Amino acid sequence: MSQPERRLDMEIAKTIESVRKLVSAASSAGARIGLVPTMGALHIGHISLIEEAVKKCDFVVVSIFVNPTQFVPGEDFQKYPRSFDADLEICRQRSVDVVFAPTAREMYKAENLTWVNVEKLTEPLCGGFRPGHFRGVATVCAKLFNIVGPDIAFFGQKDGQQAVVIRRMVADLNMPLEIAVCPTVREAGGLAVSSRNEYLTKQQRKDATIIYKSLEKCREMIESGVRDSKTIIAEMRNVLRTVPSIQIEYVSIVEAETMEAVEHIRGRVLAAVAARIGSTRLIDNIVVDCGKE
Ligand code: PAJ
Repeated sequence: MSQPERRLDMEIAKTIESVRKLVSAASSAGARIGLVPTMGALHIGHISLIEEAVKKCDFVVVSIFVNPTQFVPGEDFQKYPRSFDADLEICRQRSVDVVFAPTAREMYKAENLTWVNVEKLTEPLCGGFRPGHFRGVATVCAKLFNIVGPDIAFFGQKDGQQAVVIRRMVADLNMPLEIAVCPTVREAGGLAVSSRNEYLTKQQRKDATIIYKSLEKCREMIESGVRDSKTIIAEMRNVLRTVPSIQIEYVSIVEAETMEAVEHIRGRVLAAVAARIGSTRLIDNIVVDCGKE
């Protein structure tokens, strides 16, 4: 197979002013601008978003910024994987036009007094376990959208609640862009690819595949006609408990747009799991559509 062509003239913008200049030159030439927001440590999940952006847009910006405001005290902000040079190489190979990699000081110049709080949608699932997390995510995405001004921003279904929250923020605040959500990329055993998988030992990585197995069990049960979510959740927990080292944070089935818990399953639902393997927190989800019943 031939290697994709490297883009030798990719720009690396460290300041807001420089990324704005580059984007505005492309926009005035009529380019459709794509943005892929990331925290770096790029893997095939991120690459799928970048490829989609390159396909749909004429000028692609990838932001690499480990956003301190979305980490709750005690979380892994300090040890979050960082691999900037490898990330740049990946971006070059995928024909990215600009990597925007600001420092924390550039993004949050003074004390930040303005926050974006998306209500309701941020309360269940991860919101219940990571207070303030979605406020940090929504705020940094709003800032990135204002800085870059993309026509389309690309997110992954892997973080399903995040995608719903960002879509809602864009709709509620009339932000002039489209949000595209790309499917979750998985390893051969089903484990959703994640930067945090780097923390897992070989055995833990094997154990972690139980998370997707529990989601597959959910899909099977819905497809075979089970509609009571309590019954399905109990069965998913049984599947998860076959790996003794797993600590379940939540197993939930919610309505796919409102994130409200459902008792009787109908329409589009999101089944989501968060669990720890050792000290590593992993999340995964699937969307199941059982139509109008
Ligand atoms: P990060 O975890 O780096 O993820 C960046 C984007 O890649 C997110 O939209 C995420 O859903 C997507 N992604 C991660 N793993 C994926 C996989 N296996 N398949 C498909 N997409 C995947 O999510 C964040 O960063 C941050 O919260 C951010 C949006 C950048 C704001 O700081």
